[in-house]
Amino acid sequence: MSAFLDLLPDRPRRLAVLGAGTVGRALLPRLAALEPTLSLCLLATSRWRCADPEGLPAGAALAAIALAQAGPDAAPDTVQAHDGSGDLPAWFGPGDVLVDATASEALAARHARWLQRGLRVVTANKLGVGGPLIRHQQVRRQVENGAWYGDAATVGAGLPLLRCVRDLRAGGDRVSALAGVLSGTLAWLFDGYDGSTPFSARVREAVALGYAEPDPRVDLSGEDVRRKLLILARAAGQPLDAGDVQVESLLTPALLGARDAASTDAALVSLDHALSVRARDAAARGNVLRYVARLDGAHARIGLESLPLGHALAQGGACDNRVAIWSCRYDQRPLVIQGPGAGAGVTAAALLDDIRRATT
Ligand SMILES: NC(=O)c1ccc[n+]([C@@H]2O[C@H](COP(=O)([O-])OP(=O)(O)OC[C@H]3O[C@@H](n4cnc5c(N)ncnc54)[C@H](OP(=O)(O)O)[C@@H]3O)[C@@H](O)[C@H]2O)c1
Repeated sequence: MSAFLDLLPDRPRRLAVLGAGTVGRALLPRLAALEPTLSLCLLATSRWRCADPEGLPAGAALAAIALAQAGPDAAPDTVQAHDGSGDLPAWFGPGDVLVDATASEALAARHARWLQRGLRVVTANKLGVGGPLIRHQQVRRQVENGAWYGDAATVGAGLPLLRCVRDLRAGGDRVSALAGVLSGTLAWLFDGYDGSTPFSARVREAVALGYAEPDPRVDLSGEDVRRKLLILARAAGQPLDAGDVQVESLLTPALLGARDAASTDAALVSLDHALSVRARDAAARGNVLRYVARLDGAHARIGLESLPLGHALAQGGACDNRVAIWSCRYDQRPLVIQGPGAGAGVTAAALLDDIRRATT
């Protein structure tokens, strides 16, 4: 029996949300559904934090975000300047729930220590279990000792991917291979792309619609997909590190060399010719292009593939994620999981589901 089960506080659990960006802001209104079992006591960004051990008054967190964004002078007294170090108030302790809705390396490096302190950690930040292998192993060690770690939002924005892989293994099955479209952004970019229009225009549209990162190189590099594949592979029992994954980046030398937003935008046209040739070549064979992550045994690779229209990974549309899983049980035809796998709404809902599981 875990030592952590003895650490339940005899008061509503306190909740801390680190990160008030796209995902954090989408999470806040949804938290109301959880009261009174949980009390939001801390909200922080890398520059400020708003905290009250008795709970932030209704609406205070959202008001703090609006006011703090207007500038430090406009912020209410509950908002203090903060260095984003991840140091937590002494009153935030065992049994309390911490949500990491940032992409911070420094915070991800603290996950295992927070678990060791008895905190329940819920994360959308992939740098925890998708970062260096040693960090993943430290977190798993805490979980094996009974700590609670919710990472459903890190891959597929809450689609039951990680849960399915872990349940298969827990039931004695062995996951032999995985293949998937794991980036909602890249799924959107290649959905319906046949090379007849400039790919650069699609990228600009994705940024304008908020589907791609403000710096689209983050999506085009494949690094985000690499982290997601690492998380899935590790859940499937393959202890891979970043260097074990072969990644075909879509970045061109011009995009790699761009120094700011304006030069990145100008360099986007360098994508157009080569991708148009590949898309037209695929279309001539009745195929479509998809950016696919594959795990086969311990072999992992990510890249652009030309797939027949009827292929499981070519189905779905918009920002859908699609993952096929082969195991002893699913050896002839894979188990396929598909659905919206990106966006603030589904990601915040996935965090909320994990918060609920952490508190019941
Ligand atoms: N957006 C999506 O659709 C989506 C989907 C799935 C997963 N995710 C993941 O969810 C996480 C958040 O994404 P997002 O789109 O919300 O990012 P975002 O809009 O860039 O917001 C990030 C937030 O984290 C804060 N932050 C950074 N370092 C911090 C620190 N040391 N301490 C406290 N707060 C810190 C930032 O504060 P400052 O503004 O002060 O720097 C900002 O409020 C990322 O890991 C992302 O990969 C996002």
